[in-house]
Amino acid sequence: MTSSGIITCKAAVAWASGEPLVIEEVELSPPQPMEIRIKVVSTSLCRSDVTAWLSQAQPQVFPRIFGHEASGIIESLGEGVTEFEIGDHVLTLFTGECTKCRHCLSGKTNICQTLGLERQGVMHSDKKTRFSIKGKPVYHYCAVSSFSEYTVVHSGCAVKISPTAPLDKICLLSCGVAAGLGAAWKVANISQGSTVVVFGLGTVGLSVAQGAKMRGASRIIGVDTNPEKSEIAKAFGVTDFLYPSDHDEPIPQVINRITEGGTDYAFECVGDTGMVTTALQSCCTGWGLTVTLGVPMEKPEITAHYGLFLSGKTLTGSLFGGWKPKSDLPSLVDMYLRKEIEIDNYITHNLKFEDINEAFELMRRGKCLRCVIHMPN
Ligand SMILES: NC(=O)c1ccc[n+]([C@@H]2O[C@H](COP(=O)([O-])OP(=O)(O)OC[C@H]3O[C@@H](n4cnc5c(N)ncnc54)[C@H](O)[C@@H]3O)[C@@H](O)[C@H]2O)c1
Ligand SMILES: [Zn+2]
Ligand SMILES: [Zn+2]
Repeated sequence: MTSSGIITCKAAVAWASGEPLVIEEVELSPPQPMEIRIKVVSTSLCRSDVTAWLSQAQPQVFPRIFGHEASGIIESLGEGVTEFEIGDHVLTLFTGECTKCRHCLSGKTNICQTLGLERQGVMHSDKKTRFSIKGKPVYHYCAVSSFSEYTVVHSGCAVKISPTAPLDKICLLSCGVAAGLGAAWKVANISQGSTVVVFGLGTVGLSVAQGAKMRGASRIIGVDTNPEKSEIAKAFGVTDFLYPSDHDEPIPQVINRITEGGTDYAFECVGDTGMVTTALQSCCTGWGLTVTLGVPMEKPEITAHYGLFLSGKTLTGSLFGGWKPKSDLPSLVDMYLRKEIEIDNYITHNLKFEDINEAFELMRRGKCLRCVIHMPN
């Protein structure tokens, strides 16, 4: 660190789409007004990082530091920050909560008008980056960029959590696990005895399954094109695993047959807009609710026959499970500490920071749920 407050640290920089990340020495500026600087302790890889790294359908912002599912400890505070203290344990928030805007004041949404999902690779406040290499800007991802030993986030994009919570586990609540649980509980509000189908059994889909099981769903059907997901699916509450290649009929037809007319709820957790249509076709007429969570790699438009909606089906989507992140996340951490929710079993790999490319490869090849990357001390 220098006297100007700039930190020089290691970060995994993506120089171009799909190219392996390179661990570089980067300069990180001090936190600006209302920002905080965090020493990242643990960060896990989410499919959304991989999609943004590979997708040609998203803004091509490079060089860039990915990572948005993370835990850490506050290293310094920018001007005007009174809510945190140095040393506080925090989770980063890829969709923030300013607590003041019309949306934050409304009970109807978790999408903040000022600190919502940032897609251009800059900070919300001044549209600039805090990272650089030899004076050249290195861009952010979701205004979090946790694949770095230190990062700067807006104080509205982090939440203080219990100092007793294990940071290398609860980083999963910073995105994937919370997104799935919230989709089941807050967005769909699954009722006891209902039937559910989940498309895509990664961490997000399996968290929907966990949430559905806790709500007493009578049947949780899981669909995945990776047959290796069958066993882990059962551990998270999936009662029927469907591997599409095992069936001659289209999957919605199978689901409609075995549930006598479709499920009460369908969740798309793949990141494929075609699967949203499949999900809509798989929930029941009258009241079937489809929730889409996936971020598509291509084809952002959803196609669906209007008749699906005239028959009373509903389609909705959710970012971060509808949780108001600052208000709601500490209680999820406390639930984990009371052993009321499962997190540890999503962690299939623990990797050193220098092996971060292995995490990208594992996810690309469908060989992991979450890889937790442990930052150097
Ligand atoms: N809305 C949110 O807040 C939010 C949060 C986190 C992740 N996401 C998105 O949710 C999706 C899931 O994330 P994840 O981290 O669990 O990813 P993941 O890659 O671990 O899981 C995706 C699963 O879908 C399966 N799959 C792929 N193609 C399929 C198909 N055609 N039919 C059925 N299954 C198929 C894969 O085998 C895999 O098991 C991604 O698109 C991710 O970007 C959204
Ligand atoms: Zn994510
Ligand atoms: Zn707000």
